[in-house]
Amino acid sequence: MSSPKITPADLRAMKVRREKIAALTAYDYPTAKLLDECGVPLLLVGDSLGMVVLGYPNTTHVTMADMEHHTRAAARGTTRALIGADLPFHAYDSPDQALDNARKLVAAGAQYVKAEGGREILPQVRAIIGAGIPFVGHIGMLPQHVLEEGGKYRIKGRDDAGHAKLLDDAAALAEAGAFAVVLELVTPAVAKEITERFPFATIGIGSGPDCDGQILVTPDLIGTYPWFTPKFVKQELNAAAQIREAIGRWKNAL
Ligand code: KIV
Repeated sequence: MSSPKITPADLRAMKVRREKIAALTAYDYPTAKLLDECGVPLLLVGDSLGMVVLGYPNTTHVTMADMEHHTRAAARGTTRALIGADLPFHAYDSPDQALDNARKLVAAGAQYVKAEGGREILPQVRAIIGAGIPFVGHIGMLPQHVLEEGGKYRIKGRDDAGHAKLLDDAAALAEAGAFAVVLELVTPAVAKEITERFPFATIGIGSGPDCDGQILVTPDLIGTYPWFTPKFVKQELNAAAQIREAIGRWKNAL
């Protein structure tokens, strides 16, 4: 018998029960299917797709067409996990555009959408949630803004202004009704504070152990993108090394 489909309410309930939420990215059918079979409850077709699948230097090159294509593939592989997709760079510059593109991702199979930003995108978030589409926020280091940061992925929340901005962004997303919020490269103390103060589930990435859940870019975890691995990732498998060995064995045996 198959287990029931995970819902946003299930993830909030996991927060209340203090049950850690495992979340991973998936960009294709076989990966989504494997992660679903492993019981990972939350999947994301992240726009990290741009780097780890499409070979771009950062996420700003990813288009709606890319996201729709990969969301369709990953959604086909998902039975139980809640799977969502990122709105890519400049796909949510206005509330109308955000809603239009969120609907396209839902049509491709996303059960929630995620976008980067806090109070500054509140009208867009309200438009999406108002139309009945579950929403996940993303605050802290915003990869779509990496070029404005001089190309560096910097930790957020270290000074008073950064701390206050994170709390204000979290309050805006909570008020709008985000069911979860990704905290990327937020200081562990501020991530803990946000986790304790707000009802949404916090999903950390490089933000310490006290978030309600943790998300990683799957190729970082399993080593299928060996050319760069963030410092905070503890790699569980070096798949690239295994692939290289296997191909070498096959080639030498020809
Ligand atoms: O694009 C992505 O993969 C993400 C996760 C790292 C949270 O936004």
